Amino acid sequence: MKKILVVLLVAFIIIQFFPIDKTNPAPTPGMDFLRIKKTPEPIAKIIRTSCYDCHSNETQYPWYSSISPASWFVKNHIDEGRKQLNFSTFAVYEPKIQSHKLEECIEMIEKEEMPLESYYVGHQDAKLTAEQRKQLVEYFKKVKEETDRKMVF
Ligand code: HEC
Repeated sequence: MKKILVVLLVAFIIIQFFPIDKTNPAPTPGMDFLRIKKTPEPIAKIIRTSCYDCHSNETQYPWYSSISPASWFVKNHIDEGRKQLNFSTFAVYEPKIQSHKLEECIEMIEKEEMPLESYYVGHQDAKLTAEQRKQLVEYFKKVKEETDRKMVF
């Protein structure tokens, strides 16, 4: 028993030598969703608090991102999150893709699949109330309609 604990402890110490890279990509304010869509501040604040750590290049790393193996899960969520949807470079998406991403946002929020539940550890303020959910869905629908309208010619 004591031997297993020692092995685990040594393994834990060794994996601390494999930290994650926490450098955020360079800022691109001209391509940022909240900037280009001129999102009203109360809504922008909710999106920044609940989505931006995984879906932007402005990630604020929590304390547990300094401890392996928790850090590896954090890193994976950020990499996957940015790959699926990056608000920081939203302007780069073609209008059709923008519309599709917005549709997915609406769906994820309505189904309560986003933010990821594991994120609430240390981020209680990211948990959306029913009212916030409603506000976000209404807002994303509005932006999607505007995007769709611009595509019709
Ligand atoms: C803790 C990190 C994290 C947070 C916070 C987070 N997401 Fe995600 N999101 C992910 C990951 C990881 C994926 C990709 C894997 C998946 O779909 O589960 C994803 C996928 C998505 C997708 C693509 C889904 C699809 O159908 O492919 C959308 C849209 C999305 N998130 C929207 C949001 C919105 C909107 C918020 C804020 C309300 C949010 N996410 C908050 C990590 C996060």
